[in-house]
Amino acid sequence: MRIIHTVREMRDYVRGVKLAGHTVALVPTMGYLHEGHLALMRRAKERCDVVVASIFVNPKQFGVGEDFERYPRDMARDARLAEEVGVDAIFNPPVEEMYPAGYNTYVEVEKLTEGLCGAARPGHFRGVTTVVNKLFNIVQPDVAFFGQKDAQQAIVIRQMVADLNMPLEIVIVPIVREPDGLAMSSRNVYLTPAEREAALVLYRTLQRANGLIMAGERSVPAVLTEMRRMLEAEPLATVDYVEIRDAGDLSVIDTIQGRVLVALAVFIGRTRLIDNLLVEV
Ligand code: PAF
Repeated sequence: MRIIHTVREMRDYVRGVKLAGHTVALVPTMGYLHEGHLALMRRAKERCDVVVASIFVNPKQFGVGEDFERYPRDMARDARLAEEVGVDAIFNPPVEEMYPAGYNTYVEVEKLTEGLCGAARPGHFRGVTTVVNKLFNIVQPDVAFFGQKDAQQAIVIRQMVADLNMPLEIVIVPIVREPDGLAMSSRNVYLTPAEREAALVLYRTLQRANGLIMAGERSVPAVLTEMRRMLEAEPLATVDYVEIRDAGDLSVIDTIQGRVLVALAVFIGRTRLIDNLLVEV
């Protein structure tokens, strides 16, 4: 497996691969890999001849006071795990390679980025779409893989690809959970044992929402009230948002019908966790 640090070397590598007639998959990550990332890489390997995984903690998607500095990093472990699942090359540029002095261009998807995590983290999606755009330009993948855990990110990226006529396919891979239901996240490493236990309230609350909807509840306010009640009963949890939106365009809805996204963001102690469930009625 190759580990590549410069845009130039990455382009040369991809040129060679494409000249040989191979298809290229990209799995963009910020590293500190877990089973969720590895599931994306396995899917990518099934789908394309060559898999490139990017590992880049993107400063542009972190707000002031967020965890950019302390975001977990372990390149040696990441390289070993990526190689085990068949990744062919890792693109791991330093920050100055992606954003040299004088960098001045941003990509912004409107409307879809206004609510949910976009409201709580101003500028976050602008940073995500900018770096993903750059990664697509550098790696020129035929297919790129993202996780359903970042549901809004997935919808925003699909919109960007459609709006800007980008010649690639986006595949969204289901959430991978720990055996007790906690969604896999690099940020889970921040949790103390007590917080790790408390974090289970996210999945329990999503399951309760699913149960209510499956039992026939169609009122969004009614489901949200019950979800908030459960979350607020957990002493270590502080709700950032709990929402039910149309799963296609994230529009605000009052009645549950068709495919809906039940999404939440909750601080467990100082750690902000997100999770979601797609429900179809
Ligand atoms: O989902 C992530 O890990 C990041 O937002 C991404 C897509 C790698 C962009 O930095």
